[in-house]
Amino acid sequence: MTAHSEAMGAPAGLDHCPFMPTYAAPAVQFVRGQGTRLWDRDGNEYLDFLTGLAVVGLGHAHPEVADAVAEQARTLVHVSNLYATVPGTEVAITLDRLLGGGGQVFFTNSGAEANECAIKLARKWGGYGRHKVVSAFGSFHGRTLAALAATGQPAKWEPFQPLPEGFVHVPFDDLDALEAAIDPSCVAVLLEPVQGEGGVNPASVRFVEGARRLCDERDLLLIMDEVQTGLGRTGEWFGYQHFGVEPDVVTLAKALGNGMPIGACWARRDVAAAFSPGDHGTTYGGQPLAASAARATLAVMEREGVPQLAERAGAHLRHAVELLPGVVEVRGLGLLLAAQLADGLDAKAIAADALAVGLIVNPVTPTALRFAPPLLVSADEIDAAVAILAEVLAAHVDARALGVSR
Ligand SMILES: Cc1ncc(COP(=O)(O)O)c(C=O)c1O
Repeated sequence: MTAHSEAMGAPAGLDHCPFMPTYAAPAVQFVRGQGTRLWDRDGNEYLDFLTGLAVVGLGHAHPEVADAVAEQARTLVHVSNLYATVPGTEVAITLDRLLGGGGQVFFTNSGAEANECAIKLARKWGGYGRHKVVSAFGSFHGRTLAALAATGQPAKWEPFQPLPEGFVHVPFDDLDALEAAIDPSCVAVLLEPVQGEGGVNPASVRFVEGARRLCDERDLLLIMDEVQTGLGRTGEWFGYQHFGVEPDVVTLAKALGNGMPIGACWARRDVAAAFSPGDHGTTYGGQPLAASAARATLAVMEREGVPQLAERAGAHLRHAVELLPGVVEVRGLGLLLAAQLADGLDAKAIAADALAVGLIVNPVTPTALRFAPPLLVSADEIDAAVAILAEVLAAHVDARALGVSR
């Protein structure tokens, strides 16, 4: 193994960091990608088992998506949502079909905006006095103020108080707590089928089924945040399909544009009817360039049958990672997995060492590594990634045994 990641600090070639300090200083500057591989500015190659946080589902520089974007850039880039465009219309129709039909779509530029749309829609649907959204601790729904208020991570709220009112949180997977939290001012339950940023924690069937039942009994909307889990990643088109429920509202982003920024909020038509012209809007959301990427992405995903590919590749990756030194559990669904590490192992240090020898994985918690490779990842690429990780983990397990910190 050769070490080739750049020193932490300013991006290579710069003597200071030009970015606001919202992220740790970037360790590597990438210049090119192809499929599961990335290259940095020194020509070092990496296996990308994170795909820009579960975004580049078809892999980097997918030729059909690249051609679609290039062609669209020469044809029509932007007209605003005062008008319709062909790519946007086709993507909305395809999404509605994949989601079972009978719904309508609002396009956004991001996952947080998709959730903002869902929250506003739920409030409008509920009417005055019915506005509270119940979500789970450990969830992640975005960084805008309402999405942050819905996010079940109090440490992320503290510096930004006061947050918008009308959000209630219950322990994840605790049906009794959910039932107890619902009062007449509640209008929706907002859930991730697998909590992604919270550590790759799948919900139980009992919890999701129970949430659906409670929403039916109390006349609440069930909003599924599929921003990370949607579009094949978990081995189904949508994560909720593992649980045998039908949501009323679904939010999407990440994989939809294979890296071009586009998100979507889908709702049953009778729910979407709560919005009137002027209630919500966006200058860019679903503009033709992003929508052309989404149209090509969805076409490739359907042709290749990405849910089945993710299911098969996910089983391969899971079994290989389960055998690695220092791994006590692998959890998740499809190709959204996390390896829980043995006591005393530091996920951040392990991910940094993996990066240094050409493998990108994410320390999703201090003690767990997240894997979200392209849905088209090959068995050989999985084996190569696991081999790199095996060496890195072995070194950390040995260092722990010797009482040495790495
Ligand atoms: C489940 C979920 N919802 C919402 C978001 C926010 O999406 P974005 O960063 O595009 O605003 C994320 C991002 O990680 C997510 O994982």
